[in-house]
Amino acid sequence: MSGTPLRSSHDLHDYYETNYESSASHPPESPPPRKRRQKRRIITIIAVGLVAVLVVIVVYFTVIRKHSSSSASSSSSSSSSSSGSSGKLATGGDGSTVTTANGTQFTYNNSFGGFWVNDPGNPFNNNAQPNSWTPPLNTSWRWGVDRIYGVNLGGLFVLEPFITPSYFDKYSPSAIDEWTLSVAMAADTGNGGIGQLETHYATFITEQDIAEIAGAGLNWIRIPIAFWAIETWPGEPFLAKTSWTYFLRVLEWARKYGLRVYLDLHAVPGSQNGLNHSGRLSPVNFMSGNMGLANAERTLYYIRVLTEFISQPAYRDLIPIFGIVNEALLGVIGKDSLTSFYLEAHTMIRGITGYGEGNGPYISIHDGFTRLDAWANFLQGSDRIIMDTHPYFSFGGIDTSSIAVNDDKGNPGGKWPTQACNAWGPSINASQTAFGVTISGEWAASPNDCGYFLRGVGSESTNPDCPTYDNYQSYNDTMKAGILNYVLASMDATRDWFFWTWKIGPNAAGVIGAPSWSYQLGLREGWIPRDPRTAIGKCAALGLTPNPFDGTYADWATGGATSTIPASSSAAFPWPPTTVSNANVPLSIMPTYTSTGPVTTLPPQTFTAAPSSVTGPVNGWFNAQDTAGGVVTVAGCPYPDEYNGIFTTTPTAPCTGPSA
Ligand SMILES: *[C@@H]1O[C@H](CO)[C@@H](O)[C@H](O)[C@H]1NC(C)=O
Ligand SMILES: *[C@@H]1O[C@H](CO)[C@@H](O)[C@H](O)[C@H]1NC(C)=O
Ligand SMILES: *[C@@H]1O[C@H](CO)[C@@H](O)[C@H](O)[C@H]1NC(C)=O
Ligand SMILES: *[C@@H]1O[C@H](CO)[C@@H](O)[C@H](O)[C@H]1NC(C)=O
Ligand SMILES: *[C@@H]1O[C@H](CO)[C@@H](O)[C@H](O)[C@H]1NC(C)=O
Ligand SMILES: *[C@@H]1O[C@H](CO)[C@@H](O)[C@H](O)[C@H]1NC(C)=O
Repeated sequence: MSGTPLRSSHDLHDYYETNYESSASHPPESPPPRKRRQKRRIITIIAVGLVAVLVVIVVYFTVIRKHSSSSASSSSSSSSSSSGSSGKLATGGDGSTVTTANGTQFTYNNSFGGFWVNDPGNPFNNNAQPNSWTPPLNTSWRWGVDRIYGVNLGGLFVLEPFITPSYFDKYSPSAIDEWTLSVAMAADTGNGGIGQLETHYATFITEQDIAEIAGAGLNWIRIPIAFWAIETWPGEPFLAKTSWTYFLRVLEWARKYGLRVYLDLHAVPGSQNGLNHSGRLSPVNFMSGNMGLANAERTLYYIRVLTEFISQPAYRDLIPIFGIVNEALLGVIGKDSLTSFYLEAHTMIRGITGYGEGNGPYISIHDGFTRLDAWANFLQGSDRIIMDTHPYFSFGGIDTSSIAVNDDKGNPGGKWPTQACNAWGPSINASQTAFGVTISGEWAASPNDCGYFLRGVGSESTNPDCPTYDNYQSYNDTMKAGILNYVLASMDATRDWFFWTWKIGPNAAGVIGAPSWSYQLGLREGWIPRDPRTAIGKCAALGLTPNPFDGTYADWATGGATSTIPASSSAAFPWPPTTVSNANVPLSIMPTYTSTGPVTTLPPQTFTAAPSSVTGPVNGWFNAQDTAGGVVTVAGCPYPDEYNGIFTTTPTAPCTGPSA
């Protein structure tokens, strides 16, 4: 479908200048006769002219004409090929010039028929399309038919040592997670203090990144955010509320380029997995330990506040998936307790949004690092819950099988493409039937855990091949072809996916030290396909079972029928749960919060060029009937540290008093 990319007249101009002028300034050894050169020049000029005319005609009919008539709610129907401060609707396809908010310009490259839409009069205009085969935001996603080709914006609003190593280098050795990084930055007032985090939000991902993502044939982005985007409580050193503003800015760009968004709550109070990217390296204190229940209550509150924002009509079609807790560690928490939490979150969310297609987001939960088949028949009858699996071979111990060799049938990638097809295709296929919508929210181009800071600050992979993997400038063609084939097999086997991650920043030495985790770098260097659709059929081509999913989900899995959770499930998974792991006191006297505080409503963006009839209804809170309070502490309740749960005063009675 992509065919020969239709180049813009701008590109042709560059091409012409480069080719013509270089031959003029560096004449070949024996220059062709003057007449032949002149003739060639005339032919070139005519050809360039013809193509330019063609480009203008195609752009006019496919983009400008189609859309100037379609922006019903726009106050203007005028079009131009660059966005700007004119306040008028603008749109552009391949080769168009985009002017960013700060006045800089770049060229939009999209050979897949995608076009951006900038509509200052209606900042919620959903007409943009990232490519010709993805429905525009104003048209429903067809689950089981349309394929998700996504990337994560990892390390943007939840920092990770290997994604932005320069900050962790700078505050080495004290900074090992965002908690300690925030403390170290705050103390370093001479270098911008904690404001350095805001600089990071403002610069790490720009509009041009989002344009590049759409131009790469991708159609979704998964955006990890942390609870401190909403608020922090006393004692928490995280930068409060600031990332929310920058999150809204990314949403604005996603809408402009037609990308759908999977909002991923990646870090919750107390830590849901104890990993550095949960905010704090610590024992799990979400649904585990003495603070397990209180942290879960606070998390439910943040899920509620986010649901109220993203369910507003202005955001509903832009953000069709909400991942409510990233990678909660099932092995520590226990499946029944975790299921109680998910059922309570489902009930709360659907209480806000209503049930069935179009009412609020799909609710995504992670497999908890257990086998997918353990989730078969989970909460049958629930409304649009997605199973999110993160298929990596990276963290399963050392396997030095080379990726820079051909297998015995001559396929690049050694054993790795076959292993991806076999490990992931059938299990995901089975889950699509036995669970419902199943997606791969994270995966990478690396078969191992090599990479600068990939295992966190202070721990390193012991794989002896890491020097080869870490130094991408030395990759030979066999290595690149091997990684590419592994990537294609992974895409085909998982079907609906989000690569982890779009971008890896340089370390203090200026080097990208975890290269196969960067989609952007792989595109440039040749181990990520320019067109993700080329992955379709890869497993079959390797002689393996493809993911044979036929695209049919259970009715309730896609909001098609009235959903009801059978009473047996509700009874089996009560809220609060019957047990919380690793607690020292009975559940009945564990610390809890009360919902009697003020509610935080997330602030909407300001759009000065739009009339209040458009912006007025967007107040951050979808359901006015949802009037419960915000979560606050109970007077007299002896709360231990949120991240370690160690009591200084052991409770003897339930926390049932008034708010503190
Ligand atoms: C589009 O391509 C041009 C020419 O190759 C390049 O200069 C520009 O940066 C590209 N734009 C984006 C958004 O990558
Ligand atoms: C949706 O956007 C497309 C352009 O992508 C446009 O042609 C169509 O008219 C729009 N539909 C609605 C209902 O606005
Ligand atoms: C302006 O924005 C562009 C892209 O959004 C970014 O690359 C550039 O650094 C910014 N320039 C300034 C001066 O802030
Ligand atoms: C830190 O996070 C990285 C991924 O960013 C992971 O590989 C590593 O195991 C984590 N380490 C710890 C101790 O959390
Ligand atoms: C795919 O899933 C369906 C439904 O569970 C099952 O009948 C079929 O055997 C599976 N195919 C493979 C190859 O796993
Ligand atoms: C390519 O690089 C890999 C990894 O360094 C090496 O094992 C292999 O021999 C090289 N292949 C060729 C053809 O140079």
